[in-house]
Amino acid sequence: MFKPQQSVPALESFPEALRVLIFGASGGLGAAFVRTLASHPRVVEVFAAARTYPETPLFPDSCITWLKFDLVDELSIERAVQRATASGPLHMVIVATGMLHSGTQLQPEKSWGALDASALAQAFAINVTGPALIAKYTLGVLDRQGKSVFAALSARVGSIEDNRLGGWHAYRASKAALHMLIRTCAIELRQRNLHALCVALHPGTVDTALSKPFQSSIAEGQLLTPAYSVMAMLGVLDRLQSADSGRAWAWDGKPLPF
Ligand SMILES: NC(=O)c1ccc[n+]([C@@H]2O[C@H](COP(=O)([O-])OP(=O)(O)OC[C@H]3O[C@@H](n4cnc5c(N)ncnc54)[C@H](OP(=O)(O)O)[C@@H]3O)[C@@H](O)[C@H]2O)c1
Repeated sequence: MFKPQQSVPALESFPEALRVLIFGASGGLGAAFVRTLASHPRVVEVFAAARTYPETPLFPDSCITWLKFDLVDELSIERAVQRATASGPLHMVIVATGMLHSGTQLQPEKSWGALDASALAQAFAINVTGPALIAKYTLGVLDRQGKSVFAALSARVGSIEDNRLGGWHAYRASKAALHMLIRTCAIELRQRNLHALCVALHPGTVDTALSKPFQSSIAEGQLLTPAYSVMAMLGVLDRLQSADSGRAWAWDGKPLPF
């Protein structure tokens, strides 16, 4: 049985000299991916794509190349991928972007009465359309010689099967749509690149800006640090095999029902 990772995984299921591209490197989880992978002995190049660069360096190592992009600007995504693949294919693409709330424009709905067209459009633009465009430019440039992976961060609340509480309509619906995108892309990817996987990852409930307003309702001991969540998710990616593509996986290695 899979046990949550207790140390940074060796990533030995991937080829040596890994080249990774992380979208959303300015976020709580994205930055933790950059830090963890930049200090990993098997990783030679980390491309950290962000809308805004952090003011203080995340990691003082020169294996990080910063790239600018915005999820709502397709050309910026295409250019970031072009730069990241100039010297070769990628072994790991992580989409660590996402939005649950944004000032007064987007707040998780408590009832259908709060549904708002522009809030729904914003949730879908950031949680589905942006990741879809990233998939468009990255799935075809995944390494073909050994295992490679495209992983988009999703959320347990995006599981239709698991939805017993209701609420958070836009966020739930956008993450459910992301799951369909992952399954659809995984089917096509299998026909083109036998070694590549396309999955969604649920990071757990993690101490980041996204979860901040909701942390008071989280049971003690349930809030993960970004570093721990990322270590656990990398452990999951290291253990996944071709047959596991097209599904959503939680940080603890359990499959998340769609
Ligand atoms: N934290 C949790 O408890 C939790 C639980 C379940 C799922 N998740 C998922 O995990 C992922 C990462 O979340 P997080 O907790 O790390 O949140 P976060 O700290 O708020 O990070 C969100 C990231 O998305 C980026 N982003 C938003 N709009 C963008 C745009 N238009 N263009 C480019 N980047 C954009 C942000 O960039 P800026 O810095 O420029 O705003 C930031 O890098 C999300 O998909 C979230 O749904 C998180």
